[in-house]
Amino acid sequence: MYKFTERREKEMRLQNRILKAGICLLAAVSLLTGCDKKSEMVPAETSPAPKPVVIGFSQLGAESDWRSANTQSMKTTFTAENGYQLIFEDGQQKQSNQIRAIRTFIQQDVDYIVLAPVTETGWDTVLQEAKDAGIPVILLDRQVDATDDSLFTCWVGSDFELEGRKVTEWLRQYTIRKGIDPSEIHIVNIQGTIGASAQIGRTKGLARAAEENGWELLAEVPGDFTQTKGREVMAELLNMYEDLNVVYCENDNEAFGAIEAIEAAGKKAGSDLQAGEIMVISFDGVKKEAMEYVYEDKISCIGECNPEQGAMVQEVIGKLERGETPEKFSYVQEGMLTHDDTVPEVMVGGKKYPVTVVTGEMIQE
Ligand code: AHR
Repeated sequence: MYKFTERREKEMRLQNRILKAGICLLAAVSLLTGCDKKSEMVPAETSPAPKPVVIGFSQLGAESDWRSANTQSMKTTFTAENGYQLIFEDGQQKQSNQIRAIRTFIQQDVDYIVLAPVTETGWDTVLQEAKDAGIPVILLDRQVDATDDSLFTCWVGSDFELEGRKVTEWLRQYTIRKGIDPSEIHIVNIQGTIGASAQIGRTKGLARAAEENGWELLAEVPGDFTQTKGREVMAELLNMYEDLNVVYCENDNEAFGAIEAIEAAGKKAGSDLQAGEIMVISFDGVKKEAMEYVYEDKISCIGECNPEQGAMVQEVIGKLERGETPEKFSYVQEGMLTHDDTVPEVMVGGKKYPVTVVTGEMIQE
């Protein structure tokens, strides 16, 4: 009964907000259309400033440059000037912190909860609590493995498996064009946070390509999406596998660390496998340093992961405020970056994706 009342109240508040927005619009229209008829003008009543839309945002952490850019995108979108109050909570990579944040948002009776979940499983209970309180939950970036899709309103983010398939298709075509036999490819995968959508999708993308193309997948090791772990893990892998010649890093920060380890071991990161270089493949393409590394051919290919998701979440909330139903899943647009034009485009799932060569001008911009 209590839950029902709560939900009903929420619905009524949303209806009121829609109604108020409609009244404001009507008032504005009548004011505008009446401007030339001076005699009919009546002094406008001063109405109180509209209440901001309150959003509780549980970000999973600050492990990478991508994550900082994603947080920034949300903060610059949901400003007081734009009519929002954003309550930001950093989960510091711990699901327990994120669950606590969601419960606090429920107590604060926010209008919407945005959740960027650290890993996919274990969200059912708290999502049910948000649903019972009548608060829509919008998932950002990563997904949840919920038993029931109605536990969240919708999701905005990247297709991580597609990202993995795009860069591995680039590798396939690159090696074909350079006359390198698949049996000569020996890959290690420095994975992201285990259980995170980005890790699951990108790991799947590589495993599938390795199997289909006959590449040797030497090892899959967690790197937590951080530079420190990327360096640490790569140093160990270099010691273990002498023939290792491709490292697939599940984000750029891991790649920065892996490159440090390669250079510390007296080896060279680069695309020239025939000359004994170690090819680095990565994801994100957010930081200038990553672009410079592609330009210098220290990173051979980056599958772009787009952190600019704030505007899409705003669009979703706009729809909900107007009483419309947003798409359940909305994907961001993402490209690919490389050092040279050996592979101008890749074809995955019957669709072509252009590959952009990084230039000095692009870096300056
Ligand atoms: O979920 C997106 C991934 O998470 C980004 O690729 C990575 O950099 C981040 O930490």
